[in-house]
This record gives sequence, structure tokens and C-alpha cells, in this order.
Amino acid sequence: MASRTDGTGSNANRLVTVFGGTGFLGRRIVERLGEKGFPVRVASRHPSRVRPGRSTSAVEAVKADILDASSIASATGGSYAVINAVSLYVEHGELTFERVHVKAAAELAAAALARHVDRFVQISGIGSDPRSDSKYIAARGRGEAAVAKAFPGALIVRPAVMMGRDDAFLTTIVRLMRRLPLYPLFGQGQTRLQPAYVEDVAEAVARLIEGRNHIRSPVFELGGPHTYTYRELLREIGRQLGISVTLMPMPFAAWTAVAGIAESLSAPPITRNQVELMQQDNIAGRGLPGFLELGVEPKTVDDVIRLIEHQS
Ligand SMILES: NC(=O)c1ccc[n+]([C@@H]2O[C@H](COP(=O)([O-])OP(=O)(O)OC[C@H]3O[C@@H](n4cnc5c(N)ncnc54)[C@H](OP(=O)(O)O)[C@@H]3O)[C@@H](O)[C@H]2O)c1
Repeated sequence: MASRTDGTGSNANRLVTVFGGTGFLGRRIVERLGEKGFPVRVASRHPSRVRPGRSTSAVEAVKADILDASSIASATGGSYAVINAVSLYVEHGELTFERVHVKAAAELAAAALARHVDRFVQISGIGSDPRSDSKYIAARGRGEAAVAKAFPGALIVRPAVMMGRDDAFLTTIVRLMRRLPLYPLFGQGQTRLQPAYVEDVAEAVARLIEGRNHIRSPVFELGGPHTYTYRELLREIGRQLGISVTLMPMPFAAWTAVAGIAESLSAPPITRNQVELMQQDNIAGRGLPGFLELGVEPKTVDDVIRLIEHQS
């Protein structure tokens, strides 16, 4: 495939197209790529929402829907790399996990290959497994395989649950912990998690695009520096906030029922796929490269709480 370096190692001629570049993770990826001197094209259904952030290089916004073949064809043209950071957490009519996370992801990868793109990165998630009973987790696993088939050499990046200023995880826990007398656990709170800072994940993805590492692996798993059970994590957050938290086990069936109702809201606070994800450990697999191999020192939960508290 054509290389678009100018021989100086500069990234200035390497256009990176980011689908999902307006999202929680995608926005940070766009910023990190910009800081490294890559021109970036954000492909979004809402291009007016694209913000250049602190980026010093050009950020172009184009209107594109990953479900539309002609828009993915034009959005990928001329790109050195394409990143798929599109999410779908709740199915609506024809917008199914299969359509977005499998079919559209593979179509985007195929369009990138057809346009001689050098690198393709598919953002997936830890635990993705085509054999899972969960429709969401199985679709993520099938999506990874479909992308790898459509774009040989594609990189699959699986982050753990991510934390950041505008996340749906840590900030929600902090807010609720300050208000609720009892904090509900997922089941008995024994699921193990390894939360990662969203900025660290974005930096890792930008380094993969830059290709300065020498790790040859099709899959990277990005988990934070510590593993906690959900119960331990809540205790740690409570300790950091100076709140003595009373934890209350709550069966997964009750969470599924609550999430099913919540999904009818325009911005559901909890979704059934999140409940499914909370039923299995969400930690980086041994033997797969991650932050360490990419030279990123991941922030701890305590670090991120301090950052969020400082910024709010
Ligand atoms: N958040 C987490 O803790 C977490 C953990 C592990 C893995 N992940 C994975 O990381 C990826 C990004 O997640 P996120 O939380 O950053 O998502 P998000 O904040 O919900 O952002 C979703 C992005 O998808 C884009 N999108 C949705 N449908 C689209 C379509 N039809 N065509 C084009 N773009 C579309 C949206 O862009 P427009 O609306 O502007 O079009 C938006 O930029 C996902 O694969 C997710 O599963 C997330």
C-alpha cells in the first residue's frame, strides 16, 4: 500500500479519518492525532459538532453516516488511516448491533482497503466474544472478525470501561454516591474491572496510527493500572471522596428490568448491554499488548477523580 510519509517522519501528509470523532473517545483521539501533527477528517452525521480542540493541525469535518456506502466511500478517500470509533449502545428499529458493529464496520474497512488506506483501527471493547449469549457482546466479537477479514492487518483496540470528565461511568458513580444513602451493586459487586482513562486510550490509539512502536499484534487491550471488584472500586471512590458508602447488593435481573425501562429515554442512564457487560470480568487479557507496550503510563482511578474534581 502507498505510504504517505514525506521521508522526514513528519505526519503532516498523513490524513487520518475518524468515524465517531465527535464521541467521548473519538474526540480525544482527534485531539491527540492533531497534537502529533496529523491532519484529521472527522466523519460525522453532525459535522457542525466537530471541535478542533487543542489540535494544532487541520481538522476537517465531513458529513458521513457509517450506514451509507457512498458517504463512507468519499470520507475514506485520500486517507492514510481510518479509525472506527462509532458506538451503538441501544438498538432502535433497523439500527441493530449487527448492522452497526458488524456490517457497517466491515463495509468501512472494505472501503478503506479499496482506497489504499495504510492503517485501519477498529475500536471494540474488552470481552468482545462472538460466542457470547449477549447480543451486544457477540456482535462486537463478530465485528472484530469481519473487520479483520475485510482489511487484512487491521488493528483491533479493546479498551476497558473508560473514565473521563464527561463519562457515563465514574462521574455518574461520584454524583450518585454524594446523593444516595445506599449505593446499589451490580449483583454482589464481584465483577472485576480495570478502568482506563479515556485520554490514555486516545494516546495509545494515536501511537498505533503513528506506528512508532514495534509491536506486531492484531489486538491491543487497554486496561488501567489496577484491577478492582466493583465493590472494591466503589469503596476506593468513596475513600477518595471522603464518603462512607453503604453498599447494597442488587440482582442482575432487577438491573436488566431497570435498564429496559431506561432505554426508552433519549439519554438512558443505564442500558441492558451495560448490565450484560457488568456480568463478566472486564480486564485486559494476559499475553496481549496494551498500554505498557505502547509506552503509555495509565492513570489510576484516584488520579482521574482528582482531575475530574479539579476541572468541575
Ligand atoms: N465508553 C466506554 O467506556 C467504552 C468502553 C469500551 C469500549 N468502548 C467503545 O469505544 C467506541 C467509542 O465509544 P464512545 O463511548 O466514545 O461512544 P459515543 O460517545 O457514544 O460516541 C459515538 C460516536 O459514534 C458516532 N456514530 C454513531 N452512529 C453513527 C453513524 N451511523 N454514522 C457515523 N457516526 C456514527 C457518533 O457520531 P455522530 O453522532 O456525530 O454522527 C459519535 O461520534 C465504541 O466502539 C465503544 O463500544 C467504549
